[in-house]
Amino acid sequence: MLTSALPLPVVLIGPDARLRAANSAARQLFGTDAEGRHYMLALRAPGLVDCIEAALRGGAPAEVRHRMSECGRDSLWRVTAAPLPGGQGALVSFTDETATEAAERMRREFIANVSHELKTPLTALSGFIETLRGAARDDAAARERFLQIMDREAGRMRRLVDDLLSLSRVEGEERVRPTGRIDIAPLLGSVVAALRPQAEERAVGVELDVPAAVPAVAGDADQLTQVFTNLLENALKYGASGGVVTVAVSDVGRDPALRAAAVRIDVTDRGEGFDPVHIPRLTERFYRIDGHRSRAEGGTGLGLAIVKHIVGRHRGRLSIESAPGKGARFSVTLPQADDGRGEAV
Ligand SMILES: Nc1ncnc2c1ncn2[C@@H]1O[C@H](COP(=O)(O)OP(=O)(O)OP(=O)(O)O)[C@@H](O)[C@H]1O
Ligand SMILES: [Mg+2]
Repeated sequence: MLTSALPLPVVLIGPDARLRAANSAARQLFGTDAEGRHYMLALRAPGLVDCIEAALRGGAPAEVRHRMSECGRDSLWRVTAAPLPGGQGALVSFTDETATEAAERMRREFIANVSHELKTPLTALSGFIETLRGAARDDAAARERFLQIMDREAGRMRRLVDDLLSLSRVEGEERVRPTGRIDIAPLLGSVVAALRPQAEERAVGVELDVPAAVPAVAGDADQLTQVFTNLLENALKYGASGGVVTVAVSDVGRDPALRAAAVRIDVTDRGEGFDPVHIPRLTERFYRIDGHRSRAEGGTGLGLAIVKHIVGRHRGRLSIESAPGKGARFSVTLPQADDGRGEAV
């Protein structure tokens, strides 16, 4: 039958309201015993009755959105019932809209999150502007203090916008493989040097542990710098109580998951760590374990989302290990450059 080649489920309902035929996609959805039964029993979908009845009576094609739950998976379908000529029944087709709905929901949540993140510093700024115009107008000391806070809030908004732009740039070029050959040791050296003042401020020692010869990785130097800056910054911010953070490089040879020779970089802290239940969600945009603390540190909650996208673009992988009280380890595995030789960065 022609419909068996269609990827979307299609059923034919006869004028006696019994299921005459179902293509293979429909049999997968409603079971192989559906044919011959009354459509209400076969489809187990009371929400479709009106639309199917109308088609069986020869009305215009009608559409409804219908939710189903099969094997614990919730799905959303657009169901179209069209009458067949000569009162021969109706053809009912099912289009899966689950992914479209999920994408739409993510988009809405993303906009809500961005608005919320911008609203807090904006409200603070407006409040202080008002105070500076009124009560604190002639108080030089208060004015200085408020301007400092306003500067911090403006900085928070600027970081958020920068991170959003950088995330959208990385997402935009995710399919384009980076072409540079990167010598990872000096790159990590400059990341550590740049964050040295932050480490000293928090009294955290940073150890860089690099073997004598490391194969080059295929990559984009700016983006990899961003990856290790974000990871090291997190280790310094959230793992400071451990007193020391290690950045270690190892040549892991062939990585079975990447199916390529690879280099692994571990950023390990010995701080408070976290419950591993958070691990699958940590790289979501705006996901924070302790939102209050992250915001107090000036964090936007986008750091690990950026890391994930960059590592993805490099065809590498990110793995995270932690336990409460045991610190945290973020490991980035990157494929080696084809000939294993790096260029200076
Ligand atoms: N080394 C770590 N130890 C404990 N918790 C961590 C560590 N790294 C990240 N986290 C948790 O993961 C969350 C998400 O990290 P992410 O880097 O994405 O955002 P952020 O640090 O809050 O903000 P940003 O990086 O944009 O400044 C953090 O808020 C923190 O709760
Ligand atoms: Mg961060």
